[in-house]
Amino acid sequence: MSPKQIPKKKVSPKKDNLIYSPVSSTERMVKEQLGIYIYPDKEKEVSALEVKKSENPKVSKFNDIDLNKWKEYEDIITDSLWLIGGRDRSGMHTATLHGNFIPQIPHQAILRYTKKEEIVLDLFSGSGTTLIECRRLGRHGVGIELIPNLVKKSQELIDKEANPYDIITKVIKGNSCLPETIQNVRSLLQEKYNRDKVQLIIMHPPYHDIIKFSDYPEDLCNTPTTEEFLEKFSMVVHNSFELLEKNRFLVLVIGDKYSKGEWIPLSFYTMQKVLENGYKLKSIVIKNISGNRAKRNVEHFWRRRALGGGFYIFKHEYIMFFQKK
Ligand SMILES: C[S@@+](CC[C@H](N)C(=O)[O-])C[C@H]1O[C@@H](n2cnc3c(N)ncnc32)[C@H](O)[C@@H]1O
Repeated sequence: MSPKQIPKKKVSPKKDNLIYSPVSSTERMVKEQLGIYIYPDKEKEVSALEVKKSENPKVSKFNDIDLNKWKEYEDIITDSLWLIGGRDRSGMHTATLHGNFIPQIPHQAILRYTKKEEIVLDLFSGSGTTLIECRRLGRHGVGIELIPNLVKKSQELIDKEANPYDIITKVIKGNSCLPETIQNVRSLLQEKYNRDKVQLIIMHPPYHDIIKFSDYPEDLCNTPTTEEFLEKFSMVVHNSFELLEKNRFLVLVIGDKYSKGEWIPLSFYTMQKVLENGYKLKSIVIKNISGNRAKRNVEHFWRRRALGGGFYIFKHEYIMFFQKK
């Protein structure tokens, strides 16, 4: 504050504005660490814009969230900054695959963009995190994974997860870049679900070559250049487009990489590919990446390099939300 600054006058709030009282700093810190959206005290502080309640559920076309009870969904994040404290390790979320995402990501996406018994398609299903969440939340799930061993192991894990809603979760071995694989998904949709579309697509591709998942040349981690990686990524988006119901959502989880002294914004490049293939952008979320123990040991080394090299150390990745036009 500059010395001559005049103290602010108390202004009475406008009637049509939401009035949020400040949350204590400790509460804010704890909630942020847990990745929980910070709500004002429900009863006292949201005074001006009270939405009239009706007896009938008011839900949208793409989820089961009852807007008449919107204050009750405290676990659903609506902010674009996700500071998640730790990974959900419950049940079959064993986190054995290096490069998997935290279950909270598909959890949030499924709740926001699907209704019970709808179908989620994960085009890079890895260890099956998305399909385990599907079981918990009562959505059907199809996963595509290139590495045969991972297909087998993930299916075993998924099958061990409780299935209270009696839904079908199936991992297919295949290369997501190929129209044949997408055709196999189409046949499976017919055979197992008697449907021809899915209602949510999740994509968590390799962040180009930063983790080596396999030696298969079809593995996106083995594409020689960024341009070829983007070309293959674009094929996946293009080929799967017809499988998604109109106006439904595609969620892309991706991070950037650093190569030869240069920050390569894979996230923005891949975003552009999705936009070129018939989608509109709905949101970009920035999510923290908290280092594992091994990484923590080399953090001081990276800090020294960053100070010398004029760059910043990756602490975030992106979750991008698109809607099919
Ligand atoms: C970042 S991981 C996904 C991890 C997953 N979200 C999880 O939580 O386990 C990317 C996965 O894509 C797979 N993959 C790479 N290229 C592929 C392709 N062309 N078709 C299908 N899967 C591919 C890799 O084998 C790897 O398991």
